[in-house]
Amino acid sequence: MITKDISKFYQFYPCNVTLVGARKGNRVNFMAAAWNVGLSFNPPPFGVSISPKRFTHDMIVKSGEFTCNFLPIENIDIIHGTGRTSGRDYDKVELFSIPLEKPQVIDCPTIESAYAAYECRLVHQYPVGDHNFFVGKVVAVHYNNEVITQKGLLNTEKINFAMYLGSNTYISTDPGTMRLLPAEIEVPVR
Ligand SMILES: Cc1cc2nc3c(=O)[nH]c(=O)nc-3n(C[C@H](O)[C@H](O)[C@H](O)COP(=O)(O)O)c2cc1C
Repeated sequence: MITKDISKFYQFYPCNVTLVGARKGNRVNFMAAAWNVGLSFNPPPFGVSISPKRFTHDMIVKSGEFTCNFLPIENIDIIHGTGRTSGRDYDKVELFSIPLEKPQVIDCPTIESAYAAYECRLVHQYPVGDHNFFVGKVVAVHYNNEVITQKGLLNTEKINFAMYLGSNTYISTDPGTMRLLPAEIEVPVR
């Protein structure tokens, strides 16, 4: 099928959800963000697309920093909860009992139960449609050493990723589908 009605085009999902954290004064807030992406190897900036409607948006602009926290699907209540409530109405850290971890470089804490978390300094922002794309310089990475393989990969036997499918639906990964392929492929002769 081909359609020009792209308003319900959700096939760019699933996306690995991150919780974007920001701080203003004593207030720390987190929101779920499916639109997050690594942008280059060296340096390794990280990008998140955030609507100006989000409470988190202005906290990032004003503080010039943010964190990205990757939680396993076991923490789905926190993930979905921070994506369906606003810091304007609730202190989400208290509401969802989010365990905070002290930051190393910036002032905004990360989430202790994250299997990986980035501390980012805001270096660019670009308006993209009705969102703003924030590019952060990653200045520190927190990670759980027990879930990293010798090759530096996330151990899928130990981590169940929280992927967002759209429409309030989440899915995790099945380690049985993992494939290790050669870096150089043999191109078939035709
Ligand atoms: C799974 C999920 C993914 C989301 N991804 C994004 C996103 O990438 N960008 C965005 O601006 N909002 C996204 N949202 C919506 C915000 O998380 C939501 O509006 C949240 O309540 C904003 O919180 P805040 O007002 O405290 O900043 C997502 C929501 C969910 C549930």
